[in-house]
Amino acid sequence: MTAIDVAPLSAEMLADYHRNGFLLLPADYLPVGVLDRLRAAAPGVLAQDGPQRVLERDGVTVRSVYGPHRSDPVVAEVSRSASLAGAAGQLLGDEVYVHQSKINLKAAFAGDQWEWHQDYINWRDRDGIPSPDLVNVTVFLDEVNDFNGPLTFIPGSHRHGLLDGSYTDDMPAGYEDAPGWMATLTATEKFQLDRAVIRRLARESGLFSATGPAGSVLMFHPNLLHASSPNMSPFDRAVLLLVYNGVRNAPRPVDAPRPSFLADRDVTPIPLGS
Ligand code: SIN
Ligand code: MN
Repeated sequence: MTAIDVAPLSAEMLADYHRNGFLLLPADYLPVGVLDRLRAAAPGVLAQDGPQRVLERDGVTVRSVYGPHRSDPVVAEVSRSASLAGAAGQLLGDEVYVHQSKINLKAAFAGDQWEWHQDYINWRDRDGIPSPDLVNVTVFLDEVNDFNGPLTFIPGSHRHGLLDGSYTDDMPAGYEDAPGWMATLTATEKFQLDRAVIRRLARESGLFSATGPAGSVLMFHPNLLHASSPNMSPFDRAVLLLVYNGVRNAPRPVDAPRPSFLADRDVTPIPLGS
């Protein structure tokens, strides 16, 4: 059995995802015990010392740790489960593998923003992925609320494709000596979207912040316009993000491949079921 043989999402959920570009599922979507296991694994992932760990521009606070679907056995197992990989297979209509994973901590008081962006431009330009047939599957490891920097979307914006903007030349402030691949992982986006476009789309379609208790599952399209504000609250906002790609959309060769913790080149489909 493969990812496309299990169907955890209803027809209505699939229609919502394709219309809005995201789907927010309640905490009881995940099988009992999965959230507890992920929360127990998260501190070990966030404590990993190596290039896969990205700090905030204060140089102290952990921002993200990449690649836990490879480095942590609990995240690896959950990333291969029917509720997550099976849902991704349904959304993409293909067998799937994990292209990228990360825990974004967004620490209490110090967790910084993510500027407005679309994900697919990086996966196209840096990783050679031919089409935006990927999906972000996010598990809230903490409660996400109005105060700790929820992911914020412009609903339906994925249907406009990649939007106008321009690449900046410099490394972001605070990361001047970091390797080039760091430029797309910080609080300053490398590809700056045209703000007039963001304003027009937000006026047309409004904004939506994805909030909910720990264990909520949020799926979103890589062309959906999204951002999140700094965490001014005294509560962490850790989320696990698993980026699934369809095997038919496997990356093509690129001149300077990113490290495997940012772009997994093992495109073996995830087997599901027995
Ligand atoms: C966030 O963690 O708030 C943003 C993550 C992303 O843009 O992928
Ligand atoms: Mn993003």
